[in-house]
Amino acid sequence: GAGKGIGSGALTFQPIPPNTLDTFVVPNGYDHAVLIRWGDPVLPGAPKFDLRRQTAAAQARQFGYNNDYVGVLPLDKAGRRALLVVNHEYTNEDLMFPGFTSHDALTVEQVRVAMAAHGMSVVEIERVDGTGQWRTVTSGRRQYNRRVDALSSTFELTGPAAGSAFVKTAADPLGRTVIGTLNNCAGGVTPWGTVLSGEENFNQYFVGGDGAPEAEKSRLARYGINTTARYPSGNRKWDRAADRFDLAKHPNEANRHGWIVEIDPYDPDSRPRKHTALGRFKHEGANVIVARSGHVVAYMGDDERFDYLYKFVSDKKFMKGSSPVARRHNLTLLESGALYVARLEQTSADEIDGSGRLPSDGAFNGKGRWIKLVSGTRSHVAGMTAAEVLTFTRLAGDKVGATKMDRPEDVEPNLLTGKVYVALTNNTARGVGSNPKPDEANPRTANRHGQILELVEDRADNTAESFTWSLPIVCGDPADESTYFAGYDKTKVSPISCPDNVAFDATGNLWISTDGNALGSNDGLFATALQGPERGHLKQFLTVPYGAETCGPFITDDNRSVFVAVQHPGEITGATVENPASTWPDGDYAKPGVVVTWRLDGGPIGS
Ligand code: FEO
Ligand code: CA
Ligand code: CA
Ligand code: CA
Repeated sequence: GAGKGIGSGALTFQPIPPNTLDTFVVPNGYDHAVLIRWGDPVLPGAPKFDLRRQTAAAQARQFGYNNDYVGVLPLDKAGRRALLVVNHEYTNEDLMFPGFTSHDALTVEQVRVAMAAHGMSVVEIERVDGTGQWRTVTSGRRQYNRRVDALSSTFELTGPAAGSAFVKTAADPLGRTVIGTLNNCAGGVTPWGTVLSGEENFNQYFVGGDGAPEAEKSRLARYGINTTARYPSGNRKWDRAADRFDLAKHPNEANRHGWIVEIDPYDPDSRPRKHTALGRFKHEGANVIVARSGHVVAYMGDDERFDYLYKFVSDKKFMKGSSPVARRHNLTLLESGALYVARLEQTSADEIDGSGRLPSDGAFNGKGRWIKLVSGTRSHVAGMTAAEVLTFTRLAGDKVGATKMDRPEDVEPNLLTGKVYVALTNNTARGVGSNPKPDEANPRTANRHGQILELVEDRADNTAESFTWSLPIVCGDPADESTYFAGYDKTKVSPISCPDNVAFDATGNLWISTDGNALGSNDGLFATALQGPERGHLKQFLTVPYGAETCGPFITDDNRSVFVAVQHPGEITGATVENPASTWPDGDYAKPGVVVTWRLDGGPIGS
């Protein structure tokens, strides 16, 4: 059928062993280089990074902190020039400011530095001498280079909840223009050449939830916003720099975050948009595929324990070609459509005892349905308007009985097969106390290591309202009986824990990066074939330095370069600038950075 041989490509690299080194490790025959790091110039005229004299104005022109999603979009047909688009999810103030003692002790200017270190960067890059290595362009106009941040960038709200009562504030009485983007985690490149970015844990930026109107508190709380204290513990206290973060004064401001952001990196003057039609939750990211019908389908996860899996189907159809007319049309595709949430049924429910033992039919698998929440401006959820469903999507999912998953992180369709892969990172609360019990898709009690779910839409139609699913990989130490690697010989696979992001190489193999390895080793990047006899033969391709999480990953269309983001190196309790747990990449103190890895002989990645 579709994709015979796809995703069965040779992954012949020698896997690297688990380690806790404070270095970036790649297999024999490969090399790597830091492409850009926190503080490097993005906009022309950016001041040289000076840790001890950092200002918000400087940071707003420099590469931000805690790079997460990485996308690479071509600038020419020869594959020599490209745009690197990167999310900056959050900040580690203790690792950014010398002498850090507490958020209270930061100056207001330092708070503004942190706000400017959030957001996204667009950076022009060029290939080094026909190899798989890339470097940033550091001279000339760099007319595409761009920073958006949480400090001063403006975003347009689109779709049915834009202009609704839920998103109006004193500063924006029309409810259409938002300042700042928060906690941009994963993302995806669209078929029309833009980048989608998920606003994830936006709850942690707000204060004053205790003073919000009583009627709003339950909805705020469903999104993880503390409604009992003015300053929840660990809060960044950004209200000291910007009033809008105080929910006692501006209760709707929280409703203006938690969306999917679309940015057009080819038009540096364009205003990025927050698309309300894709719902509001702790968006990990969004990845788009064009369905056979021409409608575009975005798959999304809400990264919280016991939250849901979603998809969006556009009203309009994708227009092929690169004409200005097609591009203008395609830029509107995410403004209107249908939003669905997933309900997963089981084949072997009564055999799921939480141990991870395979049920008697030999597979964790079942059927599922996409439950329609909204189409266009019409709600399908009793008692909720469309704007309400889209702004408080979690509550809509609760009402319709969506399946409570083990933290759905990256959800990405394989563009060669149309099958969809979901990283379910972990859920240590599964089956604990009165929490939801293990089920066939989330089969382990107190799940520390996570699993990968494969979703196949009925009739191979990405707009379908029903699907089948299975778990090809149940993560952990392969010596642990509760793990599963698609039936592959477990003595030959690499241990893996806490899958977070997924990506595909040019032949359709699955690549998985991890966050929070509960086996005690550094996080890394892994690869496995998806079809044929090598399905499940998972191997570790690289590891990131101590204390870091592996983000990105992005493999170029020519299969010659792998980009990953090294996020929060040295993020260990008690570490500081002066007493770092990691000194990657420069040997002084820890700096998040984006790394490119390539094969020394110029051959394809993985082989
Ligand atoms: Fe920001 Fe769900 O990882
Ligand atoms: Ca089964
Ligand atoms: Ca993530
Ligand atoms: Ca994560």
